Amino acid sequence: MSTASEYLKRLNRYKTLRVKSCQSVSGLVRVSGAKNSALPLLAASLLTEGLTLKNFPILLDTLYAVEILSLLGKEVSLTEGVVSIRGGVKTYAVPSYLSALFRGSVLFLGGLLGAIGRAKVAHPGGCPIGKRPIDQHLKFLESVGCTFSFDGGYIYVRLPRGVKSRRFRFDVITVTGTENALLTLAGLKGEFVLENCALEPEVLDLVEFLKKLGMGIEIEGRTFKVFNPSPESLRGKRISHRIIPDRIEAGTFLVLGALLGEPLRVENVNPNHLGSILSLLKRAGAKLKVDKNSIKVERAERIKPLKVRTEPYPGFPTDMQAQFMAMLSLADGTSEIEETIFENRFRHAAELSRMGADIEVKGRVATVRGVRALKGARVNATDLRASAALVLAGLVAEGETLIGNVGQLLRGYEKMEEKLKGLGCEVYLLEKDLKDMSP
Ligand code: EPZ
Repeated sequence: MSTASEYLKRLNRYKTLRVKSCQSVSGLVRVSGAKNSALPLLAASLLTEGLTLKNFPILLDTLYAVEILSLLGKEVSLTEGVVSIRGGVKTYAVPSYLSALFRGSVLFLGGLLGAIGRAKVAHPGGCPIGKRPIDQHLKFLESVGCTFSFDGGYIYVRLPRGVKSRRFRFDVITVTGTENALLTLAGLKGEFVLENCALEPEVLDLVEFLKKLGMGIEIEGRTFKVFNPSPESLRGKRISHRIIPDRIEAGTFLVLGALLGEPLRVENVNPNHLGSILSLLKRAGAKLKVDKNSIKVERAERIKPLKVRTEPYPGFPTDMQAQFMAMLSLADGTSEIEETIFENRFRHAAELSRMGADIEVKGRVATVRGVRALKGARVNATDLRASAALVLAGLVAEGETLIGNVGQLLRGYEKMEEKLKGLGCEVYLLEKDLKDMSP
């Protein structure tokens, strides 16, 4: 058993990933628990006396969240796949050096408000894929009557004594915005209606957890009807919860299988969370056999071009856009990818072009003209899912690829190097920075 700090020290040593050309992948790969479910559930642990999370992914973002919990006064113990969180909350301030490292830190705003009625959180960080505002989070808090003060990059929020409004409609569909609202409502008694909510499986995993705590939550379309019998009745509980499988990690390996699977079996998946991904992979020519908790994928003879548009769940996920761009770089024809969620989520296009991809970006649309082959190159991971796209590209490319800033990959994928090696890939995490490596 290691502490979060020991895990962080080990993972933060790595700066670069060396990826060698791979002819095919076969065998089994087991997907970890969902990072974007673990993060809201870690924040929700503030509502409990004790929480045990199973199928827990140990990666940079969840380790940062565990560090925050320790600083807030919780005792946290980590073993492979399980995190146990005990004790009470001793302070309400989340230090900026941690919250600036990842977007998920914004969830401690809702967790603290739900648990103790006040919170002091710095503006969150996250991938440079767009402005990443939190205006919707604050608009919801303002609607229930919270009071705010802003000081030195920190937001200080308090729950109201009396609730101002019990109905709120999000202007945009926001995953962590919906999650923060649900966490906050754990601290307010009575009935509330949230409209235009996100329906991602990770949001619904948090809903299941809050119901175990004693909240009533009914979902009709994108409207959540929430009932909190009383904040006191939710408190002091010891809960155990199993995190859902990571659908984006599953999707990433399914794309690998579409490119190189002879065949590849992806295990510990929930096919019900993968509908839009599976239908597009089939259309691209991958051969899929879907079972209850696993999917067998065989490579396409030739990848067929696609027209792809990212949308809120259950639409095609923005977190799979970069991985599909890598795959479509080798398609038999021209594809079109429209990114409707984030305003700056094509930074991987320039990196893929350094490997010989033919991609033209105009605003929110990328046109990808398939090429015969990609060539290994030195590239840089600009964000978490871009790093996954570059790993996929490096595996199918000729020669060797060096991916700098590999911490981006380690933020969101547990044991990726080990999992790929288990499939016969030659990938190596290096402690040396790309810029210090001789050309
Ligand atoms: C979550 O980010 C995920 N992160 C992201 O995954 C994912 O890409 C995103 O949802 C969309 O599915 C976590 O769950 C920790 P949003 P989030 O709020 O909640 C705008 C990954 O790779 N918006 O749903 O930050 C926003 O700018 C990461 O694991 C506002 O305008 O995303 C964006 O355009 C990357 N105001 C859109 O809504 C707000 O107050 C969707 O953002 C909030 C959001």
